[in-house]
Amino acid sequence: MAGLKFEVTRNTKPKPDAEREELLKAPVFGANLTDHQVVVVWEKDKGWHSAEVIPYGPIMMDPSAAVLHYGQEIFEGIKAYRHADGSIWTFRPEANAKRLQLSARRMALPELPTEIFVESLKQLIAVDGAWVPEPVDEKTLYIRPFEIAAENFLGVRAAQRAEYRVIASPVGPYFTGGLKPVSIWIALDSARAGKHGTGEAKTGGNYAASLLAQNEGYENGCSQVMFLDAESATYIEELGGMNLFFVYKDGHVATPALDGTILRGITRDSVVTLIKDRGLKLEERKITLDEVREGINSGEIVEVFACGTAAVITPIGQFKSRLETIGSADAEPGALTASLREELTGIQYGKVADRHNWLVKLSD
Ligand code: PLP
Ligand code: COI
Repeated sequence: MAGLKFEVTRNTKPKPDAEREELLKAPVFGANLTDHQVVVVWEKDKGWHSAEVIPYGPIMMDPSAAVLHYGQEIFEGIKAYRHADGSIWTFRPEANAKRLQLSARRMALPELPTEIFVESLKQLIAVDGAWVPEPVDEKTLYIRPFEIAAENFLGVRAAQRAEYRVIASPVGPYFTGGLKPVSIWIALDSARAGKHGTGEAKTGGNYAASLLAQNEGYENGCSQVMFLDAESATYIEELGGMNLFFVYKDGHVATPALDGTILRGITRDSVVTLIKDRGLKLEERKITLDEVREGINSGEIVEVFACGTAAVITPIGQFKSRLETIGSADAEPGALTASLREELTGIQYGKVADRHNWLVKLSD
């Protein structure tokens, strides 16, 4: 497997420099894609082969391709950061590679070796490096590696042909409004993941399952949805695309434990480390909605924030459902939230010492 060589076919019609520069001024999350994509093919009898960088463009797909019918699909989200000296770096890519492998196992897709995953990011940046924005206003290149069942067959079984692809989109902050706290809708009528289900896998179906509640949230002025455990609707799990942290008055911090139904967020893991580095007590445990309601109302919980690759660290001001409102939309961002965000983005942009060796260089 070592040394899978990437064939590179350059896009002969890349976006003109002036147009790209214009797009990079205020990129909208996911709206514009770079000039190239990576493709690596897997076949049951051949393993991973045919690694290529090709021009960005549509996927030619047979209508009977398994992914279109049974949702056998997994993905990742990771960013490329430009540093002040122009070099381009990414954050903990081996962790994303491991999570893609975990998702692959759950969804009966082939596991892409870590080495090919990391190399695929370097290959894309080698041709699309100009798409990584200047390091201002939280701008980055969001990279979306994904794997699909690409066998043309309507039988329900694990596909014998799969494709791994990587695309990328320049992005600004996921939530416009800077550090302004966001409002979160509590999903009371739908769950995202159940015991032994696919909640821990980063697979498309989990996101499709979150959209009904997200629509409800939008209608009620909320920008994300919070899911509770499917069995008892008692315990807090995570948001549609982010993990959650609660900061208590005495300085300790709690986050829902990884119980198989929530995503093993890489930002979550990094924040856990940064909190412990500060000597603060960090609890990974079950947290009930009742505890959060009482804690916010009594002042015992003083800060709530969400975190993820797309959202970085975002303060939460209030939770709403059809039954109640907890907290206030006008809440100020908390001090710990703001300083963790400063530290994490500082490390990612090369402004704060990377003492855990989280950064990997993609290009000089
Ligand atoms: N939870 C869900 C459901 C997500 O989609 C994401 C985003 O990837 C996260 C949490 C945060 O994970 P990470 O920090 O690895 O981006
Ligand atoms: C990410 O943070 O990478 C995600 O996939 C979450 C989604 C909200 C874009």
